[in-house]
Amino acid sequence: MIFELNEEQLAVQEAARDFAQRELKPGVIERDRDMIYPSDQVKQMGELGFLGMMVSPEYGGGGMDSLSYVLAMEEISKIDNSCSVIMSVNNSLVCWGIETFGTEEQKNKYLPKLASGEWIGSFCLSEPEAGSDATSQRTTAIDKGDHYLLNGTKNWITNGSSSKLHLVVAQTNAELGHRGINVFIVEADWDGVAIGAKEDKLGIRSSDTHTIMYTDVKVPKENRIGEDGFGFKFAMKTLTGGRIGIAAQALGIAGGAYELALAYSKEREAFGKPISKHQAIAFKLADMATDIEAAKLMVYRAAWLKDQHMDYTAASAMAKLFASEAAMKHTVEAVQIHGGYGFVKEYHVERLMRDAKITQIYEGTSEVQRIVISRNILKGQLYLPIWKGSVESFS
Ligand code: CAA
Repeated sequence: MIFELNEEQLAVQEAARDFAQRELKPGVIERDRDMIYPSDQVKQMGELGFLGMMVSPEYGGGGMDSLSYVLAMEEISKIDNSCSVIMSVNNSLVCWGIETFGTEEQKNKYLPKLASGEWIGSFCLSEPEAGSDATSQRTTAIDKGDHYLLNGTKNWITNGSSSKLHLVVAQTNAELGHRGINVFIVEADWDGVAIGAKEDKLGIRSSDTHTIMYTDVKVPKENRIGEDGFGFKFAMKTLTGGRIGIAAQALGIAGGAYELALAYSKEREAFGKPISKHQAIAFKLADMATDIEAAKLMVYRAAWLKDQHMDYTAASAMAKLFASEAAMKHTVEAVQIHGGYGFVKEYHVERLMRDAKITQIYEGTSEVQRIVISRNILKGQLYLPIWKGSVESFS
């Protein structure tokens, strides 16, 4: 086991940290408060290569590994989670989905725009009545010969108004259930696409989350991704990687809150000494640091498994489950360590606490992650070779 990052990964980590401190931190409180979409910051992320990190250079991307992407997500998420969710959806759902399963024509047409940030993408799976139960799609795409006719409503769509490309999941043959689902590349300015109002959210408030309505949208046949009926598997496979990105976001949130709490506790004095010297606070810091280290190992390993082309389904679900629960728990503790200061916006921790909540919900709730993990355990598909033989050794 080697626990060291290579030079390229260290350089990416430093570049992301520097960018977050220099460009994202100023104004992050105001953007969050007033729900201002971070247009300038997203443009800069495109210029710096953060929006198509894993896309091959052939299609205009950075050609980096998943671990580099995770490191960048983590650093950016310490500061601005509206920016990191925009980045996550574009990289690991939209670009990865098109590059892995798209045709050469689709890749050539769309990836250079998405990887450079000229276009932003969105992933349109959730519906008013199909959230965790993702097979219950009501959006339909009817085969009309040379095109599909798309009708339906998608909600909670990240990048809803800023995206120029939507990956839309729709039922093409209801009799076939999830095997009658397809996914389509839809351009936002096509006739029949309408964007609802921006959601007023608890956290990640400057990212643009919208409902999107599709009415008789003509989707050319060549914009379907994969074989007929591949759409649900496309969504599941893509989300499996997406969950590593959200796990990295949660890790960044926990890490950001911990760094703030640690610094504050060394400065703030009570009862004649820094509060970090009181056991009540020191033990909180110890628990935070321990969970963050554990989350880090899980998130980095999930990314590593993906880079090795090994099965990462359970690993990504475990990483997201653990990191998001840790982020929620420890951001609450970071606010507590800050006392009254933690309750006001100026000190950043209350924002991280609000942002943490969504990591337990989107790209599969904590409950969905437990479904994925338990099904993999029962199928014997855990990837941990060190567990092999442990039952036999007691028999
Ligand atoms: N890889 C490949 N195939 C998979 C798979 C995976 N990881 N998971 C499931 N499948 C396949 C199954 O093999 C099965 O195929 P067959 O019948 O041909 O064998 C098919 O998909 C259906 O699988 P299940 O029977 O397991 O389906 P289910 O109805 O029991 O649901 C679920 C499983 C895990 C709960 C799934 O519905 C799920 O993940 N729900 C959550 C959806 C979600 O994460 N939504 C997030 C929205 S996007 C978002 O949040 C982005 C954003 O904006 C930030």
